[in-house]
This record gives sequence, C-alpha cells and structure tokens, in this order.
Amino acid sequence: MSWDLVIAKNDLTSHEVRPSTLAPLRPGEVRLAVERFGITTVTATYALFGDSPMQFFGVFPGPDGYGRVPVWGFATVAESRCADVAEGSRFFGYLPMSTHHTVTPEVLPGGGFVDSAQQAVPHDWYRTYEVAPQDELDDRRALLHPLFPCSFTLAGFVGQQVAGGVKSILVSSASCKTAIGLADLLSKQDGFSVTGITSGRHKAFTQGLGFYDHVVAYDELGADAVADPAVFIDFTNSAERMGAVYRHAGARLSGTVLAGFTNPSASFAPPELDGPAPQLYFTPAVEQQLMAEQGADEYRARYRAAEQEFLTGTKSWLVVRNGSGPDAIADAFRTVLAGEQPPSVGAVLRP
Ligand SMILES: NC(=O)c1ccc[n+]([C@@H]2O[C@H](COP(=O)([O-])OP(=O)(O)OC[C@H]3O[C@@H](n4cnc5c(N)ncnc54)[C@H](OP(=O)(O)O)[C@@H]3O)[C@@H](O)[C@H]2O)c1
Repeated sequence: MSWDLVIAKNDLTSHEVRPSTLAPLRPGEVRLAVERFGITTVTATYALFGDSPMQFFGVFPGPDGYGRVPVWGFATVAESRCADVAEGSRFFGYLPMSTHHTVTPEVLPGGGFVDSAQQAVPHDWYRTYEVAPQDELDDRRALLHPLFPCSFTLAGFVGQQVAGGVKSILVSSASCKTAIGLADLLSKQDGFSVTGITSGRHKAFTQGLGFYDHVVAYDELGADAVADPAVFIDFTNSAERMGAVYRHAGARLSGTVLAGFTNPSASFAPPELDGPAPQLYFTPAVEQQLMAEQGADEYRARYRAAEQEFLTGTKSWLVVRNGSGPDAIADAFRTVLAGEQPPSVGAVLRP
C-alpha cells in the first residue's frame, strides 16, 4: 500500500494518513521508494515555516488545509522510465513523509541528479539527489547529512572572523546537532574560545560533549560578561534568548549570524535587538559561493572528509532511535516539534 502522511496546517500536532495512487510513469520519470529519513528540529522548522516565504509546504503539495513536511533521507528507484537512472539504484535527497515520490531526473556529470520537475524550492540544493551506496553510518547520515554543511561552512566563517580579530564565539541552542557539528570542528582549532549557551535541562549533556570551552544556561547569562571581541551564532531566533546574549556580550559583540529557529514561536524575520543586526544564514548559498571560490571538487573532498569524521565521532554521544510506519513517524515529529527529544537522541524513520 502507498500513502502520504499529511499534517494539519492549523494544528501541526494532528496528522492523517492518506492513501496515494501510484500513477503510471510518464517518459523521463522515476518512482522513488522512500527507505528511511531523519527527523530533527530542522524538520519542525520546515513545518513551522511551511507557508512562510520559504514555502516548505509548496514542495510536496498536500490536500487543502494540510501540509506534507519535507525530510531528508534515502530512497531507492522502484520504477524507472529514465534511461540514465536504473531501477534499484539508491539516492539521498529531499523527500516527503510518504512511501513513494516521483521525480524527473536530469543526471549530473558527477553522478546523482536534479529533479527538473521540482520548481517550488528556493535553491537547487533541495532538488539534488546524490548517489548513496549502503553504508554502516546511514542512520547517522540520514540525521546529519542535511545539517553538517551548515556546521562546516560556519566553521569556515568563524575562521575568517578569528583572522579579523574575534576571540570569542557564542553559540545558542548549543545542544542542537547543527551547533554540535560546528563546536566539534571549532574544538580542533586554537586562538579563540567557544561558549555554548543552552537550556538548563541540556547543560550537562552539552558540557559532556567536550567541544565547548564553556557552557552556560540561558538563565545564567550576565551583563557585559565577555572580555574579548565576540561573534554570536544564534540557532534560536528567540528575541528573549538573543536579547540575553546581547546583554551578556555587551559592546564586545561585533556581529550575529542567525542560523536556526529552534524557538517554536519564532517568526521568520530576525528580531530587532540592541546591537548588531542578525544576518540570516542560508547554507546552500554559502556553500555555492565556497564551491565557486575553492573549486567544487576541492570543496566537496574537504567536506566529505570532515563529515565522515564527524559521523563516526557521533557514536560517542548520539543514540539512533529507529521506528517505522506512519504513526511512529507522526510520533517522532510531534516529539521534536514539542522540544521533547533529548539532544542525545536522533529519530530515523522508515515508512
Ligand atoms: N541556516 C541554515 O542553513 C540551517 C541549516 C541546518 C539547520 N538549521 C537550523 O538549525 C536549527 C537546529 O536544527 P537541528 O536539526 O540541528 O536541531 P536538533 O538537534 O533537533 O536540536 C535540538 C535542540 O534545539 C532546541 N530546541 C528544539 N526544539 C525546541 C523547542 N520546541 N523549544 C525550545 N528549544 C528547542 C534545544 O536546544 P537548547 O536547549 O540548547 O536551546 C534542543 O536540544 C533548526 O532551526 C534548523 O532549521 C539551519
């Protein structure tokens, strides 16, 4: 049986399972069978901003009043009418919470393809499917392959800031996986300190990672407590939490990057704050610029090596929780949406 999991737009905690029809493929089309995908707060962010300018609900259209939340994961080709894409081949990319998804591949020179029929995405990143041979790290990859590019490119950004004299990096929602990836990379460099800022309930976990030089809870932040020129990388987009960090850093704060939206009531636009205006960070655009500057092959090789090391290292702090079927998927989604998933756990679901 084939189905789509749909979420009520006026109540993201309410879901339905709708049977789907596997229509005969047109020439050039490929039917993907969804294998497994990760659910983390980025999934919740897609749903929360489903009808924002980012239009995440436009990608996999749902029935009136319902959204199909995009996820990242693995799929195999169940049926192909595209000569260049063989049945049984396996890819990683942007998928709906469904059993199947039909694409129109435009094969890329290095392998993989772009879904040329997908026009509702803000960047090619979201319609590119990479070749994905089976690997023992696949559960971790399902969770982290969509997130680590943000960590990796932000680490490069921090390097530039440090070269310009910044000595202190402040990271909020320090327990989120994207921030952890960044902190892991930064812990291998010298010459600056990294402070992770998190909620009280996640402080011990965040300290235990050993990647941050200091870990502070949101309610422990002081005023004018930062001695060095500082840059703030925010993953909350919470006016309250960002305001507390601004007061903590005082005049030492030279810039803020808005990289995430873990605060469930965050609007898409950054709040007005007494200090540097937060700069929205859109990883696909940054990555594209880095590839243009460094050469795509060179960039990808460095990225792949760093990701492999990070994924392997996550075995020491990240437990994968597997589940299957629409109800397990909906449960995992609701848990993440409510902020109830411990940061030491990652949910990987199969339809
Ligand atoms: N800019 C980009 O290009 C880009 C790329 C990748 C990801 N992101 C964004 O980065 C953010 C983190 O994503 P992730 O998948 O790495 O997250 P994750 O690992 O699932 O994050 C979990 C952490 O986020 C905070 N959190 C989550 N839900 C919450 C809630 N309902 N209320 C309060 N705090 C909550 C908590 O951290 P604390 O207790 O430490 O605050 C929690 O430990 C997302 O908003 C995602 O969209 C952006």
